Amino acid sequence: MSEKKASNEMWGGRFASGPAAIMEAINASIGFDKKLYAQDIAGSLAHADMLAEQGIIARADQKKIAHGLNTILSEIEAGTFTFSTRLEDIHMNVESRLAELIGPAAGRLHTARSRNDQVAVDFRLWTKRELTRTADALKALISAFLDKAETHAATVMPGFTHLQTAQPVTFGHHCMAYVEMFGRDLSRVRDAIERLDESPLGAAALAGTGFPIDRHRTAAALGFREPTRNSIDSVSDRDYALEFLSVAAICATHLSRLAEEIVIWSTPQFAFVRLSDQFSTGSSIMPQKKNPDAAELVRAKTGRINGHLVGLLTVMKGLPLAYSKDMQEDKEAVFDAAETLDLMIAAMTGMIGDMTVNTEAMKRAAGSGFSTATDLADWLVREAGLPFREAHHVTGRAVAMAEAQKKGLEKLSLADLQSLNPAITEDVFSVLSVNASVRSRKSFGGTAPAEVKRQIRYWRKRLQKA
Ligand code: ARG
Repeated sequence: MSEKKASNEMWGGRFASGPAAIMEAINASIGFDKKLYAQDIAGSLAHADMLAEQGIIARADQKKIAHGLNTILSEIEAGTFTFSTRLEDIHMNVESRLAELIGPAAGRLHTARSRNDQVAVDFRLWTKRELTRTADALKALISAFLDKAETHAATVMPGFTHLQTAQPVTFGHHCMAYVEMFGRDLSRVRDAIERLDESPLGAAALAGTGFPIDRHRTAAALGFREPTRNSIDSVSDRDYALEFLSVAAICATHLSRLAEEIVIWSTPQFAFVRLSDQFSTGSSIMPQKKNPDAAELVRAKTGRINGHLVGLLTVMKGLPLAYSKDMQEDKEAVFDAAETLDLMIAAMTGMIGDMTVNTEAMKRAAGSGFSTATDLADWLVREAGLPFREAHHVTGRAVAMAEAQKKGLEKLSLADLQSLNPAITEDVFSVLSVNASVRSRKSFGGTAPAEVKRQIRYWRKRLQKA
């Protein structure tokens, strides 16, 4: 008995009118799906026009409906529209206001339609617009990288594996690695648009309709390539939302790796880059500090986007066809991921454009850690005819010798090198410098400045059509 009392007290404070209020709270989506108002109105305008064209409703009623819908659009945009939780979602909020504005004709709008195809068309339109914006944002980010790569096509830096100095590369080449990554993200965005570009409007509740509707007409009016081909799938498919989230998660993951590099590069220990004041913050207690907060937040927000992907996959995975109310949970994930990704790309574009590259520090680091050891081994193969495995062994001994003498490979004496292998000549020093090392790597896609410039030219051209 005491338990019952406790639970009543628990609900009582928050829900004044008992179970009905709880139902309203769990059921309503207007708090977030009001974001779809423009798409909802566009969908209704196209639907009503088609109904009139097909003689399903009178032209006079369609005119009233269109006028009313446009009034609602201006009311929402002016901030004078009153959204009501009692009316559950954006669809019913708009329809109810339409009835207030134009009277009984409003009731004809929902002919040959259900909220199931209505929400599907709204959300597809919204996701399509967002994907298009993401494509533009990615193009700006890629452009920022191309500019940096151009300036630094010949700037040497250490290349890493296991975050250990591996071989010298150019900073331009490193930037172009990100161009490839974001270029693939861009092509994934385009693919996603291509696949979602079908209109579900007219699928009605799930089975289609007996009214003589023209789905091709509404598809074209809404800017879709064609109508969807199966009414059941039309109202139960949320692949486009999942695809948006997976594209976003991969892109966010790329941004996060870049953010991590920026965090490392901007430490005083590395000092490869200096972020502009605009994209860093100071410490309230340590005056010397300049923190890469924007990069850290890009790294962190990736977790949110990845979480949304897993969240919606989990919502969808057990649903029987066709529509279930579970699917209402699709929107907040996509809305938040879209807003978050937009901000992340913009912040990164700003950071890359503004950052100062410390070419001296990069050069110093590029020459440390015996980074040209592979060049020595390659020279032994090429000029002295050693099998690579043996060349690797000789080079290992050269590195140990340089380490013992506390100097770089290029500072070892010829006599010392010859003590390791008599075939070594003066010529070996021509490959031991960092600059010679990067210049030699001119294989297709390699780090040589000339090759980097070729890839920049390729991407500038490709980006115009992307
Ligand atoms: N607010 C709903 C959603 O987002 C609209 C569709 C409602 N359909 C239904 N049969 N209750 O999913």
